[in-house]
Amino acid sequence: MIKIMTIFGTRPEAIKMLPIVKEIEKQSHKIKGITVVTGQHREMLDQVLAVFQVTPDYDLALMNQNQTLTGLTTGILSELDSILMIEKPDIILVHGDTTTTFAASLAAFYHRIPIGHVEAGLRTWDKYSPFPEEMNRQLTDVLTDFYFAPTEVSKENLLKENHRADRIFITGNTVIDALQYSITPDFNHDILTKMDPKNKLILLTMHRRENQGEPMENVFQAIKQLVQRQPDVEVVFPVHLSPTVQAIAKKHLADVARVHLVEPLSMVDFHNLAARSYLILSDSGGVQEEAPSLHKPVLVLRQETERPEGVQAGTLKIIGTETKNVLTEIEKLLLDSNAYQKMATAKNPYGDGRSSARILSIIEQYLT
Ligand code: UD1
Ligand code: UDP
Repeated sequence: MIKIMTIFGTRPEAIKMLPIVKEIEKQSHKIKGITVVTGQHREMLDQVLAVFQVTPDYDLALMNQNQTLTGLTTGILSELDSILMIEKPDIILVHGDTTTTFAASLAAFYHRIPIGHVEAGLRTWDKYSPFPEEMNRQLTDVLTDFYFAPTEVSKENLLKENHRADRIFITGNTVIDALQYSITPDFNHDILTKMDPKNKLILLTMHRRENQGEPMENVFQAIKQLVQRQPDVEVVFPVHLSPTVQAIAKKHLADVARVHLVEPLSMVDFHNLAARSYLILSDSGGVQEEAPSLHKPVLVLRQETERPEGVQAGTLKIIGTETKNVLTEIEKLLLDSNAYQKMATAKNPYGDGRSSARILSIIEQYLT
């Protein structure tokens, strides 16, 4: 029996890793799964665990109110040490580009345990953007044994860095698998009852470290101007629990008419609200991948993206964070139905929703 340990710690890792954990459960006659969460996030991680009804085998409960990258990294390394020693998995799986991803990979390397990297090969090639994610994923890929690249582009990136070609597999992105656990036709939510049903819903998320400060302030100014200029628009903004993000959001957008600041939504609520929205504004990675499946345009609040497939497919547009430009780009999609339709009907380039099973069958092929 193969022993697979999944290790994750934040909301997006959980959303993209739990479909694999559920697939392992289905195959429990031949795979033993061990689930470890670092607790880099707390409430936002627990929301996702609840949706998938998974109780981790180990919870390192590491989150602090003002955690530092160094504190998190050292905490994860030292806590995982004894767990890896006791459990001796055949392989660990990490996901994406967080501090949990890199620190868990390093811990496994010290124990000479093979590493599978889910969502390997995303790159901007810019050391500080996104920070620290670009280095987290590059460093993880130096340590990785099995690369689960979501697309051809991510595979090519890995080949450019001379990683082993025979260990790179295009699997699609497991975020598309996650949509099967959430999208429902009979969805309702408190927020919808507070809105005028004739209004257009814009869903906003913004949390990246490099956007905290002036870029975020500029975008929120654009939102304020937007609702003043466009009376049939309502903005729903589930605010990330980072104290920095909370403070900036409240400073600019508390008590602004038709702007709804709400707590982070559960994955089910977020996906279903996204499906009912007119368009999405976001600097999130995962949102850029799932929105195309829901046929929603995403205006990306960043200077660049490691998800060029979506830009090429026409479903994402990079608009930066400058107030005037953000406002212009949103109004273009509100007023120009051709431009809107072009983005809304582009094809999702991130997979068919069967990535988790694909990843497990590759592991099985190599480790049995
Ligand atoms: C982290 C990841 C980032 C990912 C993001 C997804 C790193 C360095 N960053 O950034 O790559 O895009 O998660 O959301 O790995 N907090 C809570 N409750 C929660 C979650 C966070 O209170 O459930 C607060 C805490 O005060 C915490 C702070 O948010 O200290 C920041 O969390 P952290 O994981 O360090 O950074 P994120 O910005 O969430
Ligand atoms: N998401 C959620 N609730 C929210 C906002 C986002 O469940 O209130 C989900 C969203 O569907 C996506 C994921 O969180 O799958 C993205 O996570 P986040 O933006 O925190 O991180 P990133 O993807 O940028 O690393």
